[in-house]
Amino acid sequence: MRLPKRKKRKDVSRGAGRRAGQRFDAEFGVTTEATIFLGELDPEALGPSLDYATHYDPTPPGDFEKLIEAATLAPEEATFVDLGSGLGRVVLFAARLPFRQVVGVEFSPALCAVARENLRRFDPVRRRCRDVRIVCADAKDYRLPRGAAIVYLFNPFVGPVFAAVLERLAVHDAELNVIYHTPLERKLLDDHPAFELVVDRPWGCVYRNRRNAGAPPKVGLRP
Ligand SMILES: C[S@@+](CC[C@H](N)C(=O)[O-])C[C@H]1O[C@@H](n2cnc3c(N)ncnc32)[C@H](O)[C@@H]1O
Repeated sequence: MRLPKRKKRKDVSRGAGRRAGQRFDAEFGVTTEATIFLGELDPEALGPSLDYATHYDPTPPGDFEKLIEAATLAPEEATFVDLGSGLGRVVLFAARLPFRQVVGVEFSPALCAVARENLRRFDPVRRRCRDVRIVCADAKDYRLPRGAAIVYLFNPFVGPVFAAVLERLAVHDAELNVIYHTPLERKLLDDHPAFELVVDRPWGCVYRNRRNAGAPPKVGLRP
């Protein structure tokens, strides 16, 4: 996937780590840079999946760019879904690309409330996707929209929740990319017959579903 050309030195979304995240928040007037433990927030609202959830931490801006560039689907032909979207930083990143739709799925109502406020504040001029939404739901119960999709996972959950989500992704009815940052459960994806690995970095992987096996990647695939 080719990203729009930008002036590198001025773009605050480049770079990794907390400083880059703080600069992103300051530039866009949003709140995404934080570490939040779910048990201290609204545990009563979360149900049994809480046992398999990680805490909230946002994707470093530079990491998102490197992973999305490796996707084999172009934004114009796909919906982008962040499963475990937290305060919505990745939703905001994706909203800057011309996806058909961008969805953040988060099971903490408290995090969803802040994410929706972030979305409201996010400069409409910077958005290239007009249909951007936060869905407050457990990822294991969420059904992907029909059609081609890119699913983003920043180490949101493990164990049976991850396995249940994976089985749902495996039967998706169209082309699918799975971008998996900090892939603690990657063995399940590596071994799953429905998926093939297309990019492998020490901190993140990109997979696609095998209904496309044999077809050359459409754009920008890096070995
Ligand atoms: C590491 S954070 C990633 C946040 C965001 N995707 C990003 O990359 O900036 C993981 C998020 O997954 C959420 N999460 C964990 N289990 C979940 C579940 N079963 N359904 C929906 N969200 C979940 C957590 O509440 C947390 O906000």
